[in-house]
Amino acid sequence: MKTLPVSAVLFCLLAHAGFATAGQDAVERGRYLVQTSGCNDCHTPGYMQVDGRLPTSQWLTGAAVGFQGPWGTTYPANLRLALQDMSEAQWLQRARQPMAPPMPWFNLREFSDRDLVAIYRFVRSLGPAGEPAPQAVAPGIPVATPYIEFVPKQAAKVARQ
Ligand code: HEC
Repeated sequence: MKTLPVSAVLFCLLAHAGFATAGQDAVERGRYLVQTSGCNDCHTPGYMQVDGRLPTSQWLTGAAVGFQGPWGTTYPANLRLALQDMSEAQWLQRARQPMAPPMPWFNLREFSDRDLVAIYRFVRSLGPAGEPAPQAVAPGIPVATPYIEFVPKQAAKVARQ
């Protein structure tokens, strides 16, 4: 029986180590992208109130406070649960589809495949947590949850002196 040359064995070991590092790099990059792209501002309850000082274990669990506007009332999805049910390929598709306001989906659409995959791997690395966010509600239908009104108001004209 022929034995494998030492160099081949070494190559396999190094290639494997490199692969593991690449996987960890993607998770780290995903964390960085989530943190700097503002996903937590809406998808993590209480994040803005504590200047972003929440452990990653509490990130992206969705919100039960709605955003209400001409589109009805929408709730930031629980991404920790949503991404558990998607393959990487499904995520790449979903991340580029239109979503209701105020989700800045047109920004998400512009991420490279590589960065979207990094976000996916990071969110999946956190594991599932929390409850699904409430279903979106059509315009004009009252909601039982608290909500933030997303409608510009015009200040009354101030009389000139
Ligand atoms: C200004 C608030 C806001 C910000 C910032 C935001 N989102 Fe959202 N997101 C929402 C809302 C509201 C919804 C629900 C929209 C709907 O019902 O169609 C949503 C929905 C989504 C969905 C759809 C989930 C599903 O179940 O299909 C994904 C994916 C998503 N957001 C990812 C992100 C990522 C990634 C970021 C950061 C790059 C981000 N969002 C930033 C508010 C926001």
